[in-house]
Amino acid sequence: MYLRNAWYMAGWDKDFPADLPQPLTLLDELLVFYRQADGRIAALEDRCCHRLAPLSQGRVEGNDLRCLYHGLKFDAAGRCNDMPGHTSIPKAMKVRSYPVLERYNAVWIWMGDPAKADESLLPDFVGYGSPDWYMAPGRMDYAANYQLIQDNLLDLSHIAWVHRNSFGGGNADTNKAWMEGELHITPLERGVRVERWMPNAATPAHQVAMAGPTCDVLTTFDYLVPGIFLLSSRNYRAGSAQRSGTARPTEEPLHASFTAQAVTPLTARSTCYFFTFGPWSQAAGDGEQMKQSFLALGRQVFEEDRTMLQAQQKVIDADPSRKMLFFDVDKAPVMYHRLVEKLLAAEAQA
Ligand code: FES
Ligand SMILES: [Fe+2]
Repeated sequence: MYLRNAWYMAGWDKDFPADLPQPLTLLDELLVFYRQADGRIAALEDRCCHRLAPLSQGRVEGNDLRCLYHGLKFDAAGRCNDMPGHTSIPKAMKVRSYPVLERYNAVWIWMGDPAKADESLLPDFVGYGSPDWYMAPGRMDYAANYQLIQDNLLDLSHIAWVHRNSFGGGNADTNKAWMEGELHITPLERGVRVERWMPNAATPAHQVAMAGPTCDVLTTFDYLVPGIFLLSSRNYRAGSAQRSGTARPTEEPLHASFTAQAVTPLTARSTCYFFTFGPWSQAAGDGEQMKQSFLALGRQVFEEDRTMLQAQQKVIDADPSRKMLFFDVDKAPVMYHRLVEKLLAAEAQA
């Protein structure tokens, strides 16, 4: 079951060149994306209504896409506007079209009822062109259901184990803080917010040069439907956590980094994972070099996740009747599941 009335990330903008229709399976639906002559993106069902040939093997003509099996041509709304050899075109000759947006250096698609497509429901993503952060675009594909990735992101205690030597730096205190640090979990209208102070923590290895060896680290993330993960990590002087309580300090952090990620189901057993990850643009040093080093670190760390989650998927599939048991670390994933169930029920009723 997929949530449909939401904006899914389909790819980075640079992955949709002009004149080249892109086939893409999202939520088990065959789609084709293409850029119209004016540069705007369009998305249609990748299935010509005549003999069901893939439109992605067709040709972009102005703002339209022509099927190269027998020449039917469709506009961005999916209406057939040219049927070779005919002057009148039956109304039934059309294909499904999807609302799309190009925002934050990315292409987003609304997979549900087009009448309900609402731009204001697109979360405040942070693309690789943001002036506030040094970031490069990343993408990984998983042979696993999207829910395993979603639950992994909603419960960062796994950093203490899966990433104990990468993000955790092999530091026992840091890993203990990831596992046992007090969490503040807040329900949001379309997601969940999780905040965690790690007082007097060893600075993550990749930030030591910028923030010093120890500090108080505040990580805050929002996980928003249909799978948008926005996490900031801020390093403050030791003692800030105690002074601030649960509030964010008013002082400037010593250092900050940010990651924006999007989890998009391709099929029931494959998922696309898009990410940006990088330090703030106030960080001293070579911005391009920092972009590339954070991208490489992201790839290394997310590969650790992928190895675990793909193996987890195989165990689940070996006996789908087995149920999971939860404990404290699962509070945020459980809260998010409930929200999605509520939204799915609302979609089913509509
Ligand atoms: S299958 Fe597309 S025109 Fe025939
Ligand atoms: Fe992870």
